Amino acid sequence: MQSKFFIYAAIALLISSASAAPKSSTASAADAPSSSVASVTSAAPATTTPTSGSFTFKNTYPSAVGPLPVDPEWLKLVNFTQVPGAPYKLQAGVGPVNPTPGQNTYCSWTFTQCIRPDDITFCPTKGDWGLTYDDGPSQFSPKLYDFLDTLNQKVTLYLIGSNVIQYPDLVQRAFKAGHHIAIHTWTHSYLTTLSNEQIIAEFKWTERAIKEVIGVSPRYVRPPYGDVDDRVRNIAHQLGFVVNIWNKDTLDWSLAESKTFQAAWIDNNVTAWIAEAPNATTGSISLEHDIYSPTVDVAIKILPILKNTFNVVPVPVCLKDQTPYKEAVTYSLSGNGPAPAAASSGSSGNATATGGSPGPVSVAAASAGSAVPSASVNSTTKPSAASTSFDTKTMVMGVAAVMLSLAVVGF
Ligand SMILES: *[C@@H]1O[C@H](CO)[C@@H](O)[C@H](O)[C@H]1NC(C)=O
Ligand SMILES: *[C@@H]1O[C@H](CO)[C@@H](O)[C@H](O)[C@H]1NC(C)=O
Ligand SMILES: *[C@@H]1O[C@H](CO)[C@@H](O)[C@H](O)[C@H]1NC(C)=O
Ligand SMILES: *[C@@H]1O[C@H](CO)[C@@H](O)[C@H](O)[C@H]1NC(C)=O
Ligand SMILES: *[C@@H]1O[C@H](CO)[C@@H](O)[C@H](O)[C@H]1NC(C)=O
Repeated sequence: MQSKFFIYAAIALLISSASAAPKSSTASAADAPSSSVASVTSAAPATTTPTSGSFTFKNTYPSAVGPLPVDPEWLKLVNFTQVPGAPYKLQAGVGPVNPTPGQNTYCSWTFTQCIRPDDITFCPTKGDWGLTYDDGPSQFSPKLYDFLDTLNQKVTLYLIGSNVIQYPDLVQRAFKAGHHIAIHTWTHSYLTTLSNEQIIAEFKWTERAIKEVIGVSPRYVRPPYGDVDDRVRNIAHQLGFVVNIWNKDTLDWSLAESKTFQAAWIDNNVTAWIAEAPNATTGSISLEHDIYSPTVDVAIKILPILKNTFNVVPVPVCLKDQTPYKEAVTYSLSGNGPAPAAASSGSSGNATATGGSPGPVSVAAASAGSAVPSASVNSTTKPSAASTSFDTKTMVMGVAAVMLSLAVVGF
């Protein structure tokens, strides 16, 4: 994450230039699609199992730097003839380069913020706010988790696999607290620049580590930098994942990585989002990070303000998706419920998203004891896609009250 600032800045530049008129084409021709042949990378022995705390891994895992070893079993999960073309070239210190500026053949979000209907970029219901923190767990996560606990606030956490094996106890803590655990790849690379096999490995190593730690396999993935195109989407979907981007970006990472970034900009953005709220037609999903101390601090600062206006929930809650994991576990849609329980505990019924009203889900097993639901659950259960009959919950909101509370908080 060393030069994230420059990378983000370059992406912003790329986005703005791609959405404007085509500029000078500095990029060379696109790579020939490499997708038709699955060159089988042998599963080189994984290298290391670093960990802190009390959790002991049985599996071994690769280092945080790619290229990653690839388990041949994973390659069998993907029909490579269906994977669209690319990849894009990676320009050092910049990011993916559009080989055809002004065009966006593969619907790259990086180049034009192109999205497909399957992409999740916002909460559908006006007033809902899907709260996500990326890049954890880190040494700064406990401070955030503590604060979330004081508010009984559940969130979505997009975890980096190589951090999961460093802080497994934090992952268990977050899961038991009822946070929604999701995948943010192993090395935090630009997925559109990787080979098909490496994309698979980025998702599957992270899935394997999370499964080992908390007993369930996330269905939600977030490509680092939001760098997704049709090839990444296709591979993700064939592996049983849904892709989640965002539509409200705090750019909080700049607090740690940019000398010119002003913290007040985040306050201003939050104020603007609140001002826009009455006219919004949908909800939102925001992006923050628990990888740096200042990003955790700003997260703690703005969350109560967001909660004054929005119904702040984990992403699957605003999607009415009770099955954010691949196993037969039911996730509480109350937004403030305890950890998901294994369906096999007999307490929570069938693990299918009904799309109905978010009735409280009984969650005896996971919340009562310290055990994480795991062993009794088979990983082959394929939950049906979440129905999308969304509530049209009225948002009760006093703008005046919000402004008043902003004044109190000191905006
Ligand atoms: C892979 O996909 C192609 C194209 O859709 C299809 O013709 C082929 O039967 C598939 N192969 C397998 C093994 O499913
Ligand atoms: C939001 O923040 C960005 C920089 O992060 C800034 O350029 C923009 O003006 C801000 N928006 C508002 C409404 O203040
Ligand atoms: C919301 O929409 C109304 C009607 O179009 C407009 O008068 C008002 O200025 C808008 N408010 C904001 C905050 O954009
Ligand atoms: C679960 O599904 C089975 C089979 O469809 C059904 O008989 C049972 O009543 C369902 N249980 C609950 C709690 O919905
Ligand atoms: C899990 O799968 C195995 C093999 O398919 C099967 O024997 C076992 O009964 C399953 N366990 C549960 C709890 O469904």
